[in-house]
Amino acid sequence: MNKKVFITGASSGIGEYLAYAYAEKGYFVGLVARRANRLQAILSKCQTLGGDGKIYELDVLNGDGMTWAIHDFIALPGEVDTIYANAGVGGTDEMSSGSADAMNHILSINILGVTNTIMPFIPHLKSQNKGKIAVVSSVASFRGLPHHAAYSGSKAAVRNICQGWGAALHNYNISVSAICPGFVASEMTDGKNIAQPFKLDTEVAVKKMIRAVDRRKKVFIFPWQMRFITIPLMRHAPDWLVRKFGM
Ligand SMILES: NC(=O)c1ccc[n+]([C@@H]2O[C@H](COP(=O)([O-])OP(=O)(O)OC[C@H]3O[C@@H](n4cnc5c(N)ncnc54)[C@H](OP(=O)(O)O)[C@@H]3O)[C@@H](O)[C@H]2O)c1
Repeated sequence: MNKKVFITGASSGIGEYLAYAYAEKGYFVGLVARRANRLQAILSKCQTLGGDGKIYELDVLNGDGMTWAIHDFIALPGEVDTIYANAGVGGTDEMSSGSADAMNHILSINILGVTNTIMPFIPHLKSQNKGKIAVVSSVASFRGLPHHAAYSGSKAAVRNICQGWGAALHNYNISVSAICPGFVASEMTDGKNIAQPFKLDTEVAVKKMIRAVDRRKKVFIFPWQMRFITIPLMRHAPDWLVRKFGM
């Protein structure tokens, strides 16, 4: 039976390269994002790589639309193997704006976009007694970051949600992986005038992610320098240092 993988945020960066990696393995890919023209081009490339798929032009905040798309995807031939809640946005808190809009935008896409992606799949995954869920969190989730509190907070929230889901779904043979990348080449990071230590090529990053998800790792922090150097520093650095370097 064909295996299927569902990926949100598939129109660029990590999601795009996840689609290519699974297409090369012959998977059927369900691709979600708002830019349909990009999704169409990516699906065409997936087909040349040996896979097939379907695109869903959707905002992950559209709960009804996501539920419809997920039911449609489930009904297509093949077994649902893995789901990636990958869509996400960065940005600053706009601390002087006098408005919560910028923060709420980031919090809603990065948290509610994840629940809108995963929850409609759960009854089906339970009924097939099998499945892998991956949620893209971030190394930034390990400390509240100055001017990026919405981003780091949203990524901490989904990492914590994954822990709860993982425990609840363990007996159904469903794994839940919180993926915590450091810097990866993508539209989110490219061209940004900030230090991006240990930045990985998208293709390399995606291969590491897939290996971790297939091994059903609960939390996967990469590259290793982030795990052993940056996160301990972020956790234990005094506030004055974080303020100085905006870690
Ligand atoms: N790159 C890094 O260094 C890094 C590090 C840690 C974590 N991450 C996380 O990795 C994930 C992927 O990001 P990326 O680096 O690949 O950046 P990216 O190239 O900017 O990709 C973001 C993707 O999310 C989609 N998206 C954004 N808002 C959406 C919405 N409301 N509805 C549907 N799709 C939406 C975008 O598609 P449309 O605009 O077409 O909708 C795009 O496909 C994000 O969750 C990000 O926080 C990235």
